[in-house]
Amino acid sequence: MQYNTIHVEASRSYDIHIGRGILAGLGEFIRPLLGNCRLAVLTDSNVDVLYGNAIMEYLNAAGYNACKYVIPAGEASKCADTLLAFLNFMAAEQLTRSDAVVAFGGGVVGDLGGLSASLYLRGVKYVQVPTTLLAAVDSSVGGKTAIDIPAGKNLVGSFYQPSLVCCDTALMDTLLPNIYRDGCAEVIKYGMILDGKLYDTLHTLPFDREAVVSRCVEIKRDVVQQDEFDNGIRGLLNFGHTFGHAIEKLSNFAVSHGEAVAKGMVIAARMAPLCGLCDVADELSALLVQYGFDIACPYSANEVYEALLSDKKRRGGNISVVLPRSVGDCTLVSLPVEELKELLQKVI
Ligand code: GLY
Repeated sequence: MQYNTIHVEASRSYDIHIGRGILAGLGEFIRPLLGNCRLAVLTDSNVDVLYGNAIMEYLNAAGYNACKYVIPAGEASKCADTLLAFLNFMAAEQLTRSDAVVAFGGGVVGDLGGLSASLYLRGVKYVQVPTTLLAAVDSSVGGKTAIDIPAGKNLVGSFYQPSLVCCDTALMDTLLPNIYRDGCAEVIKYGMILDGKLYDTLHTLPFDREAVVSRCVEIKRDVVQQDEFDNGIRGLLNFGHTFGHAIEKLSNFAVSHGEAVAKGMVIAARMAPLCGLCDVADELSALLVQYGFDIACPYSANEVYEALLSDKKRRGGNISVVLPRSVGDCTLVSLPVEELKELLQKVI
């Protein structure tokens, strides 16, 4: 079995293994870390149909007594009801403090699984097994866990690092093209914020999935190690996200996360020269179009501005935005909301 391992030093340190076909080795990755515990596998209805039997067979073959809880696929499951239902399931299965959660799916499953693990018996260990490109390069790394509440997305959560991330890139073969593309927006983001060399390789399609996922995870690892609790440089990971979240919200989540981030990155790139920074908007737009993204913002500057005002990154009268200084180098800029409104009117 061939795979790359990236080590993260955080409040809980852990390895991230990345390779094709490594799901079969999940039990062997888990054993040295967690011993012969019980495992509660959390997954969603889409992943379960494709890979639910496989993961249970691999874990059973490795000698694990694993139980499985399947939630309906989709963002609507990332809620308090599902969280409570899974906690009740773990209690009914009599899981103890030395047992663990395996979050097997995309961002919804990862966020929910991580939060459940942080709450059950005041904290049990958990393993992330991402099945989408987006989860592999973003949500499964760095320990952010969350559910949505009626007031907004991700408003209830914790920082709680996994004990292991096992990323089998073969699982992404079955992703629908638009779901795979959502992850590509995030990959392009990593190139733009911190690695011009990675960015350049993305012009050749299809990219080397294992190499690209590994590099993105390394970049995220380096950022998280410096700022685990998101008080500074971790904000760079929000390139395109401040505007993207506003667009997602305005569309009532009909615009997917990746599509919204692509539009948001273009807005930020257009804003940069108006703030005395470089102009990479045409270059970035061309790459996003090459990946099939529609980069036009379907909302007016005023609509985006109003949606931005409730952003959880807002601090007092200022909002932090990430702007490019060049390809591979972005910076955090804190802008008064009124100035941001004027800038939005110039770029949308
Ligand atoms: N998704 C951004 C972060 O993990 O900070």
